Amino acid sequence: MHASAILPADAAADWTIPQDWRAYTPLEHATWDALFARQAAMLPGRAAPEFLNGLDVLRLSKAGIPDFAELSERLTKATGWSVVAVPGLVPDEVFFDHLANRRFVAGRFIRRPDQLDYLQEPDVFHDVFGHVPMLADPVFADYMQAYGEGGLRAARHGAIDRLARLYWYTVEFGLIRSGAGLRIYGAGIVSSSAESRFALDSASPNRLGYDLKRVMRTRYRIDDYQQTYFVIDSFDALLRQTLQTDFAPLYAELAGQPDIDVETVLPSDIVFTLGDQSHAHPQTGSDQ
Ligand code: PHE
Ligand code: FE
Repeated sequence: MHASAILPADAAADWTIPQDWRAYTPLEHATWDALFARQAAMLPGRAAPEFLNGLDVLRLSKAGIPDFAELSERLTKATGWSVVAVPGLVPDEVFFDHLANRRFVAGRFIRRPDQLDYLQEPDVFHDVFGHVPMLADPVFADYMQAYGEGGLRAARHGAIDRLARLYWYTVEFGLIRSGAGLRIYGAGIVSSSAESRFALDSASPNRLGYDLKRVMRTRYRIDDYQQTYFVIDSFDALLRQTLQTDFAPLYAELAGQPDIDVETVLPSDIVFTLGDQSHAHPQTGSDQ
């Protein structure tokens, strides 16, 4: 996810670079606006209220690509987080260290107009529209900081791949229960027009109750919509369990257990929806 890369000459030791907001072209701002309009219309009734509230609090509806300095000012007031620009993928430990210090690292480039629907590497729309609204929620803000601290610890246990699955199935592709049905909160879903429909409406994927150990054993797809989504009960429960659990013995325990495939449903799973996997096709990319 945040694989090895080479520190670019213009980056600081912590890999940050200036956003250089003034350098964005009118076309780039227009690309943001088009993506924003589409998702803003799609998400009421689909996204978790905490996400929608974050859009509001941060005034992300303002036209154009957000200026990270201005955005950080609002975000810092809400939860003490800020947003910093990086050139692209950064090494795992750099990423974790930023999170542990309540800094969210975001790409500053925006996709081309012919890439509105899909792009594999995270751009400023995915990073800022997808991730930053949840950081305005105090509970999720704490979860992300704890995740960064947990990442630094996982690195010492050689267990980054395990912990990355937790990030994938919560921060990137998580669903949450609400009184009115399932809601999306994962950044990879809310920033994608097609997946924000697929994740809730399609008969194809499984939607299973979130289980920490199970999630850390489950492989994931990086080349298509997920074949399984995991549903949390509440952000509070997610935060509490991850904070209170010592992961070191879990890493040791899980080391002896086989991975679970992306489409597998176990007898022990809580099944919200059993997917027919009609969309699924052979994988060209996964986490291993
Ligand atoms: N409690 C975890 C550990 O012992 C750290 C963690 C917290 C991981 C929150 C993920 C999310 O390593
Ligand atoms: Fe992301």
